[in-house]
Amino acid sequence: MKAVILAGGSGTRLYPTTQVVNKHLLPIYNKPMIYYPLSIAMLLKIREVLFVVNPEDVVSFKKLFGDGSHLGMKIDYIIQQKPRGLAEGLILAEEFIKNDTVLYLLGDNIFFGHDLIKILEQAKKEVEKNGGAYVFGYYVSDPERFGVVEFDETGKVLSIEEKPKKPKSNYAVVGMYFYDSEAVEIAKSVKPSHRGELEITSVNQRYLEKGKLKVKLLGRGFAWFDAGTHDSFLEAGEFVATIEKKTGLMIGCIEEIAYRNGWIDREELLKLAEPLSKTPYGKYLIRIAEEQEHAL
Ligand code: G1P
Repeated sequence: MKAVILAGGSGTRLYPTTQVVNKHLLPIYNKPMIYYPLSIAMLLKIREVLFVVNPEDVVSFKKLFGDGSHLGMKIDYIIQQKPRGLAEGLILAEEFIKNDTVLYLLGDNIFFGHDLIKILEQAKKEVEKNGGAYVFGYYVSDPERFGVVEFDETGKVLSIEEKPKKPKSNYAVVGMYFYDSEAVEIAKSVKPSHRGELEITSVNQRYLEKGKLKVKLLGRGFAWFDAGTHDSFLEAGEFVATIEKKTGLMIGCIEEIAYRNGWIDREELLKLAEPLSKTPYGKYLIRIAEEQEHAL
């Protein structure tokens, strides 16, 4: 499986800040927002990642991640000329995905929860083995802001709608989707919505029509943030700060994950820590490199 991370868009909901800076490069507490979705791919042992970026931001992204080799990964970039919708990222990623399966991540979505990775590993296995699409629902009080999934009493999915005025449930579809390689062709066939965008929800609707959409609910024990508004941006940062201070462990620390995955060795980790060594982030990396016992 490969991963595609959508990091384009105009970020209008975070204006004026994002008039000149790409939102995915802004800090959620102590690291760029984009580290969080990248860390999800890495925790799933996905080494090949494609970032979909705006033309004016590609230089910054390349500065941040290069070709990924310092993390033992292969990172690539593709430019989205205009924000024409989330499903367009799949079309742009066609050459990259080829016949593989894909984890499609929205660059502003942040997840946290015990056993989250176990649940995602199951979804990954399922799509690798049987194809189709696998998405996740999360209970929210403001479903009209999101893609919304409706179920019957047996848990069967009845509908999935993008930002419905009258939501049929309180379950938002989060920005993390597992697809087989058919997703690209499906995205190509999608027509723009009334807001003029190729919606990822339309792709999911097609999978539903074919009987190939699986939905799993992420329960109360999980935290999910779509950090694309002023409030959720701040809340996500406060959440990360609280958890990190409480546990002494970082969320979304890509260098640590690369090290724990065995993609880089101790020396390489210390080399990455060096330019950051004056910061708590750098000190943390040094601590990880020097620890004898791994935290679970
Ligand atoms: C997008 C999707 C929506 C999904 C949400 C999750 O919305 O279109 O279906 O629930 O991400 O963050 P947008 O962020 O484009 O408003």
